[in-house]
Amino acid sequence: MSEVADWIGRFHPLVLHLPIGVFCFAFVWQYLLPQKWRGEDGFLGGLFVFGSGSAVLSAALGWLLSQSDGYTAEEVDVHKWTAVVFSALSFLQVYLWKQKARHPRMRQAYHVNFWLLMTALGVTGHFGGTLTHGAGYLSFSSAYQNNIQEDSANISDSTDPSVYVAMVSPVLKQKCVACHQAKKIKGGLRMDGFNWLMKGGKSGLVVKPGDAANSELIRRMLLPLEDDKHMPPKGRMQLSEEEIALMHWWVAKGADAVVKVKEVVANDTIRALLKVSDEQEPEAASLPAVNLPDSVAVQQLKARGYGIRPVVLGSGWLDISAVNVERLESGDVKRLQLIAPQIWQLNVSGHRLPENFGELIEMLSQTRRMDLREAELPEGVRNRFGKLLALEYLNITGTDCTDADLIPLLELKQLKHVYGWKSAVGEASVQVFSRKRPDIKLDLGGK
Ligand code: HEC
Repeated sequence: MSEVADWIGRFHPLVLHLPIGVFCFAFVWQYLLPQKWRGEDGFLGGLFVFGSGSAVLSAALGWLLSQSDGYTAEEVDVHKWTAVVFSALSFLQVYLWKQKARHPRMRQAYHVNFWLLMTALGVTGHFGGTLTHGAGYLSFSSAYQNNIQEDSANISDSTDPSVYVAMVSPVLKQKCVACHQAKKIKGGLRMDGFNWLMKGGKSGLVVKPGDAANSELIRRMLLPLEDDKHMPPKGRMQLSEEEIALMHWWVAKGADAVVKVKEVVANDTIRALLKVSDEQEPEAASLPAVNLPDSVAVQQLKARGYGIRPVVLGSGWLDISAVNVERLESGDVKRLQLIAPQIWQLNVSGHRLPENFGELIEMLSQTRRMDLREAELPEGVRNRFGKLLALEYLNITGTDCTDADLIPLLELKQLKHVYGWKSAVGEASVQVFSRKRPDIKLDLGGK
C-alpha cells in the first residue's frame, strides 16, 4: 500500500461524519418538522444526493484505511458490510424520492427505506465505534471501565496463572497485536508471544527488565497522543491509565514471564495494587546502599512460603510478602529480624501478628512501605508505629487501629500515604493530620 493511499485513508474518521449528519438532518426534516415549515421537497432530494455521495466517499476511504492501518480482517468485516448495505440503501433512497412524485405507490417504499437506512446507519456507526474504541465503548454500563478489575477477580479464582499470561498479554492482544504479529510486523516488532516481545523490534530491545523508563514499549505509550511515535497510533483503541500503570509496573518489576498473580495481588483489587506500586516504584540509582541480606534467613523464610524479591535486581533491599504464608509464627519474626535492615517493603496483610512482632517493628527504621491490611495487631505493634522512621506508606485498612495509634505518625518525616479504610480511625485524625501534616494523605475511604 502506497504512502499516499495510506495518508488518504486517514480522512475516513473525518468524512464519515458527513453522511451521518446529513441523513440525521434529513430524517428530522422529514418526520419531526411540521408540514408547513418543510417547504420544497426538492431540498430533501438534495440532501439524499449529497448524503449518498458522501457515504460512498467515506466507505472508499474506510476501505483504504482498513488496508493500511493494521486492522485484522475479522474486526473490519462486519463494519465493512453494514457500510456497504447503508450506502446501497442511501442510493435507493435517492431513486425512491424521485419516483414517489410520479407514482404515489412508491411513497410507502420511500418511508420504509428511510427507516431501514437509518437503522443501517446506526449499526454501521456502532461497529465502527467498536473498531476504534473497543467493545462496549458506547454502552452505559461501567463494566467497560472496570474491565481490568473484573478480569483480575476471575483470575484469582483460576489456577494460579502468571502475571504475564493473565494480565499483560491480554492487554497487548487487545491493543497492540493487530499491527505487531506474524502477518503485520510493524516496526519489526511482534507482540503475539513473550519471546517475540523480548526479542524487540527494528530499534532493538523494547523491554528492558527492571528499567521501565528506558523501555521503548513503555516510552511509546507515555508519549503524547499527538506524537507520531505514540503507541497505539492515534485513532486506535488506546490504553487506559490502569493498563499503562500495569505495563509500567510489570516492566519495572523485571518483566518476568513466570511470576504469579497470587504473589503480587493480596486480597485487594488489582486497581489498588497498581496505584500503590506505580507511584512508589523506586529507581535503582536512587536507592541508598545496603549490605546483602542474610541468605540463610532468606532461604528459611522462602521455605515457609514468604515471597521475597529484591526491590531492584542486584540490590540488597527486599520486598517481602507473607500473602502465601499460612500462619505467621513468632519464629518467622525472629528470622525477619535477621534481615530487618534490608526490608524495604513488608506485607503481612491478613495475618494475626504474634506478640514479638513489635520487636521487629523497632528494627524497621529503614522500611519504606508497610501493608498491615486486615491484620490483627497486638498492642505492642500499634504503639510502635513511631519507630518506622523511613516509612512512606502505611496501610491499616480493616484493622482496629485508633486515632491514638496514629499520633506518632505525625513525627515521621518521609510519610506520604496512610490508608485506613474500615479501621477504627476517625474524622478527628483527618483534621489533626490536615492541620499538622498536610503533606500526608490520610485516606479513610470517604468516611
Ligand atoms: C495501527 C497499528 C499499530 C498498533 C495498534 C500498534 N502499533 Fe506499534 N507500531 C506501529 C507502526 C506502524 C510502527 C513503526 C513506526 C514507528 O516506529 O513508529 C510501530 C512501532 C512500534 C514500536 C517500535 C518498535 C521498534 O523497535 O522500532 C513499539 C515499541 C511499538 N510499536 C509498541 C506498540 C504497543 C505497545 C502497542 C499497543 C499498546 C502498539 N505498538 C500498537 C503500528 C501500530
